[in-house]
Amino acid sequence: MTHTAEAVMSLPTISREYRTQGDGYQNLKLQSATLSKPKGTEVTVKIHAVSLQFRDLMVSKGIYPQQKWDIVPCSDGAGEIVALGEEVKGWKIGDRVCPNFALDHIHGDVTEDIKLTGLGGHIDGVLREYINVPVHSLVRIPEYLSYEEGSTLPCAALTAYNACLGPVPLKGGDYVLVLGTGGVSIFAAQFALASGAIVIVTSSSDEKLQVAKKLGVQHTINYKKNVKWDEEVLNITGGRGVDHIIEVGGPNTILKSINAVRYAGWIHIIGFVSGGDNGIPVTLAILKTIIFRGILIGSVKQFEDMNRLLTARQIRPVVDKVFSFEQATEAYAYLESQHHVGKVVIKLA
Ligand SMILES: NC(=O)c1ccc[n+]([C@@H]2O[C@H](COP(=O)([O-])OP(=O)(O)OC[C@H]3O[C@@H](n4cnc5c(N)ncnc54)[C@H](OP(=O)(O)O)[C@@H]3O)[C@@H](O)[C@H]2O)c1
Repeated sequence: MTHTAEAVMSLPTISREYRTQGDGYQNLKLQSATLSKPKGTEVTVKIHAVSLQFRDLMVSKGIYPQQKWDIVPCSDGAGEIVALGEEVKGWKIGDRVCPNFALDHIHGDVTEDIKLTGLGGHIDGVLREYINVPVHSLVRIPEYLSYEEGSTLPCAALTAYNACLGPVPLKGGDYVLVLGTGGVSIFAAQFALASGAIVIVTSSSDEKLQVAKKLGVQHTINYKKNVKWDEEVLNITGGRGVDHIIEVGGPNTILKSINAVRYAGWIHIIGFVSGGDNGIPVTLAILKTIIFRGILIGSVKQFEDMNRLLTARQIRPVVDKVFSFEQATEAYAYLESQHHVGKVVIKLA
């Protein structure tokens, strides 16, 4: 019997998993499901840690665009390969990996078909003990990172990397404005600092801004105390405006972001945590020749590039709190409270 065949034989046949039916994370159900053997070019990954996103709150409420109902939630998992399909080459049992957010986004641009391979929204995700995934979706976790840290990479880190170092990377000396101190934002601050930018972070909390300062962020603004934070950004930049904005706020922050960006600057349209329902003011954006860049996570290729930067600079993800698998609903509640800085993680194995 081959090594692979032995490993497959010793695989459990049952895997515990959470499911949501879009009726709130409070109603997440923990249940047992049959675990099949990996076929062809699939591998079985034993999940060690899962990190939560703002998106996971939306999926749990049933308000994520095109989401599947009755789904295993969560996109961001880190684990080890425990079984290989017969056709898998180049990977071995024990390799530490993350599946990419969209399993089929290998390189290049997103397409409708690729988008619909997004874990934990369109297809069953990673909040479970074992998952079978195609080998083309796998990215190795940098050796110096734990599983908990590795689990923060597929969505928040890669989105931030794509914004800061995507098709038109920021340059050393650029000003980068980061809104808030959530998962995407803190990674963006880390990547921008590592690339020589001057970083301005806004937050609702002075305590959270202290965490950003400890990471090396040069300027901070409390947007609750200073509602004209856009004017403060212009002051900091001598009236010029910033080169890049990590726009996770959406409708309620976009007008101020447009004021705070330099002419022909980049607003990386990423999220909508600030709420509100006014449309994006396209005309004003055109008049200021701003490039509005919609971003949908990133590719395996970009994930690999990002890991080289992480490793070169030994950047450590900021993990705020770790919950056990059985405490998953508490982890969701903590994320929803927005008391966190950086990432909220669920530890399994
Ligand atoms: N397009 C993509 O590819 C992509 C990928 C990942 C995430 N996203 C989106 O990006 C957004 C952030 O996701 P996340 O997972 O990083 O969220 P998160 O960790 O839950 O972060 C939420 C943080 O947003 C900040 N915030 C709330 N209201 C704000 C406001 N008015 N102005 C500035 N900051 C505000 C708060 O930080 P403070 O308390 O410090 O203010 C809060 O802690 C979400 O809308 C998510 O859906 C998009």
